[in-house]
Amino acid sequence: MKKAEVFIDGKKSVDLPILTDTMENQALDIRALRQQTGLITYDPGFGNTGSCQSQICYLDGEKGILRYRGYAIEDLVEHCDFIEVAYLLIHGYLPNKKERERYSQLLNRHSLLHADMQSFFRRYPENSHPMSILAAMVVSLSAFYQIDLEEDPELQIDLTVTRLMSKLRTIAAFSYRKMKGFDFVNPSHTYSYCANFLNMMFSSPVVPYEPNPIHVKAMNKLLILHADHEQNCSTTAVRLVGSSEANLYAAISAGICALWGPRHGGANQAVIDMLEQIHNSGENLSKVIERAKDKNDPFRLMGFGHRVYKTYDPRAMIAKKTCEEVLSAMGTSDPLLDIAEELEGVALEDDYFKEKNLYPNVDFYTGIIFRAMGIPTNMYTVMFALGRLPGWIAHWLEWHHDPFERIGRPRQLYMGPAVRVVPPINERE
Ligand code: SDX
Repeated sequence: MKKAEVFIDGKKSVDLPILTDTMENQALDIRALRQQTGLITYDPGFGNTGSCQSQICYLDGEKGILRYRGYAIEDLVEHCDFIEVAYLLIHGYLPNKKERERYSQLLNRHSLLHADMQSFFRRYPENSHPMSILAAMVVSLSAFYQIDLEEDPELQIDLTVTRLMSKLRTIAAFSYRKMKGFDFVNPSHTYSYCANFLNMMFSSPVVPYEPNPIHVKAMNKLLILHADHEQNCSTTAVRLVGSSEANLYAAISAGICALWGPRHGGANQAVIDMLEQIHNSGENLSKVIERAKDKNDPFRLMGFGHRVYKTYDPRAMIAKKTCEEVLSAMGTSDPLLDIAEELEGVALEDDYFKEKNLYPNVDFYTGIIFRAMGIPTNMYTVMFALGRLPGWIAHWLEWHHDPFERIGRPRQLYMGPAVRVVPPINERE
């Protein structure tokens, strides 16, 4: 085993093992550091910190590689549908025809929502953001579909995973129907996962509706693109909440809340807001880029930049191609796509973006596809959550089955006042 020698004030202090992963990446194992030296490490944002060992997802940020359980994302979007990829992430292997069929029937069987839960939707204000409904409904599932670990725990967890995979889609569609003031449309056993979702979203009793196969195909691809991404912010939230032994519903609800932020999954909504603002104002794109570079301006180029990818996000590449395919198959165009492609061109020629390795990420083009499918902007991060769910579940299960797992509890550098005596209240300024 390789090791690193740590010298403190010129004196050798400790040997730290160096761990090597499947792809020859290396990590300094600092588990004994504080005990042997009294030192902790300091890494706000965890940019240099590995939180776990995982077999689920591999990213190479320099080469723009993304693999789920060893399969390249390009291969998966080409040859699989979302349910196969969800099965792969959760179970660790691709389902055969029989397993796929059985999984689909299982998901359908658990796709309904308790009638009492449906009444919750009515209590939300018209303009509620669907992510607030999603997070609240998911944690409420733990009240209606209790997990009794006294029984066969593995069976209980399996059941909870299936319920989550199926009911999140129903909750997402119901949150849209609530916003529109429409009656809910229940899932149907006649549709596949994505077609079912579109039917629950858009079918109407007064006009014939059939999910558009172009949209069904595009939705499968988009959900696969979002399905996992190793230790991102929301997945880390799921693992951290799970590490306290909170139930799976609670951990997933925490992941949904973390995803909502515009630095993370909320960026896909922010990208469309940004493109619409440029389209409506006719703002010169070079000026937009200058604003994004201006440290005194809080504006950032949404959908650009990434903690890990220092090259083009492979998912953005696929999303851009899918965007063009969907619009041309529908015989339509979208000025926002033209603006996005032009904006990308200007940014990638700019030294600031080149020096900082800022490229389009998964959120830059996906919103335009959701828009073409008739999904409203405030539902885009909900779509991201639908896609990311199997990844979150896979990471929760990996933590749950890890014999060495511990509760997540980082340290800190304390920079507050050393010690003070409490003055009586009438002596305080
Ligand atoms: C996702 O982690 C994952 O895997 C996430 C994700 C997943 O699948 O789970 O891939 C999904 O969240 C994608 C990212 C979506 N967010 C956005 O598109 C929002 C815009 N991008 C950023 O705010 C930013 O790039 C982050 C949050 C994505 C990454 O932030 P980092 O890694 O903390 O980088 P940073 O903020 O330290 O930026 C480094 C430099 C800074 O300049 P300096 O201080 O060095 O001078 O780059 C600049 C930043 O100001 N910068 C940008 C920029 N992103 C970074 N400048 C202008 N526009 C941007 N978009």
